Amino acid sequence: MPSLQWKTTALALTLFQLLHSIKVESFLSQPDRINQLPGQPQVNFQQFSGYVTVDEKKTRALFYYFVEAEGDPDSKPLVLWLNGGPGCSSLGVGAFSENGPFRPSGKVLVRNEYSWNREANMLYLETPIGVGFSYSNDTSSSLSVNDKITGMSLQFYPHCTRDNLVFLHKWFVKFPQYRNRSLFITGESYAGHYIPQLAELMIQFNKKEKLFNLKGIALGNPVLEFATDFNSRAEYFWSHGLISDPAYKLFTSTCNYSRYVSEYYRGSVSQTCSKVMSLITMETSRFVDNYDVTLDVCISSVLSQSKILSPHQVTTETVDVCVEDETVSYLNRRDVQNALHARLVGVNKWLVCSNILDYELLDVEIPTISLVGKITKAGIPVLVYSGDQDSVIPLTGTRTLVQGLAQELGLKTSVPYRVWFAGMQVGGWTQVYGDILSFATIRGASHEAPFSQPERSLVLFQAFIEGRPLPEAF
Ligand SMILES: *[C@@H]1O[C@H](CO)[C@@H](O)[C@H](O)[C@H]1NC(C)=O
Ligand SMILES: *[C@@H]1O[C@H](CO)[C@@H](O)[C@H](O)[C@H]1NC(C)=O
Ligand SMILES: *[C@@H]1O[C@H](CO)[C@@H](O)[C@H](O)[C@H]1NC(C)=O
Repeated sequence: MPSLQWKTTALALTLFQLLHSIKVESFLSQPDRINQLPGQPQVNFQQFSGYVTVDEKKTRALFYYFVEAEGDPDSKPLVLWLNGGPGCSSLGVGAFSENGPFRPSGKVLVRNEYSWNREANMLYLETPIGVGFSYSNDTSSSLSVNDKITGMSLQFYPHCTRDNLVFLHKWFVKFPQYRNRSLFITGESYAGHYIPQLAELMIQFNKKEKLFNLKGIALGNPVLEFATDFNSRAEYFWSHGLISDPAYKLFTSTCNYSRYVSEYYRGSVSQTCSKVMSLITMETSRFVDNYDVTLDVCISSVLSQSKILSPHQVTTETVDVCVEDETVSYLNRRDVQNALHARLVGVNKWLVCSNILDYELLDVEIPTISLVGKITKAGIPVLVYSGDQDSVIPLTGTRTLVQGLAQELGLKTSVPYRVWFAGMQVGGWTQVYGDILSFATIRGASHEAPFSQPERSLVLFQAFIEGRPLPEAF
């Protein structure tokens, strides 16, 4: 992709003109203020949610949920959180299952003691258009998020990245007090594609006018380089006892996972791969959660985080192990939608992961690790972390990629591989390169780390936004 750099610059320029043409509509944050969510306990911070349109015709609207920091929000940074999928909701997965202030439980919301809004002002964005409550009124335009420009998949600069940038710019009009605030972008999984693209676009944009005070990005169990990420699954399965020695051998020599996925997306799974995958699927069993091999199954909606990262074998039998999906039932209540100022447009139900988007599945094969390198070179700190019980994007592949990137950039180890602590226990392991590129594991955590290890995830998050090393002792 030789023209990638040129494309970013060109897009930044186009957007520069566009953003300057946006008239400051006197929209204020007050109409978006949430009085009280149904079943919500009393809290001492404010919440907002609503829509920001991202095109001139005002037909494309992105939905956000914003939680001010608990205690002195003016002194705390702004953090944008994006979930992956692609097509999964940051509201449903991020806010209500992972690091937001509440988790739905029956008819009520219970406090999450380890909410990230203890440390930061948290902005959850449902993106791209078509996810969750975000919608497009323009029925003439298809919801495909993969337009092609000159033969290159626009996944690299799709509506999504552009929309996200326009969204943030217009959100600052509603919330001018956050315009100059330190900004971090965090997220997980397929956000390993979204976040580096958005950060890179901001960096390009800032060259012309410093509009985004970007201070760092954090990527959890991210897809960064398809083959390395996917092929580390075999060893992970094998070393955790999910598959036998002979199956491991077949899964590494006869047909590896990247080959299988590649064939699957092209609609032509070979006999060889089909046989190997049947064996792997049989041995691992449907009753193990690939997103956390130690958790019991039925961990609510997070299971469906990503069909693209774990495409099922041709027979599409889905066992609905989660009959009680708290988040889905909560967010589909009319009183909840009213309290959130949310609308359902073009869909009749709020879904954790959208099924109306037409993704270019092959985009997953485009590596984003080189973009992470560019961001690092621009002086923006990067944290890549891994919930260490995830077999979908295992820590081993991620660690290899970060290590390789450090080497390529000539970054020397500034913190050698060591444990870090949360509470009085080991929270995981970490290594830092050149004081700017960090890798960390979260011990006992799933693909959605804050979901299964909220305390450890909060310690990691705190160190990250404060720009200090992870606790070396307790
Ligand atoms: C889109 O359509 C809905 C439902 O008709 C309407 O409430 C909303 O105002 C429209 N939004 C835009 C941005 O045009
Ligand atoms: C942000 O910073 C710029 C440059 O320091 C300043 O001109 C502008 O007034 C600030 N904006 C806000 C909303 O504080
Ligand atoms: C995976 O399989 C492909 C195609 O057979 C091969 O090119 C690649 O080297 C393999 N990767 C690993 C890590 O085994």
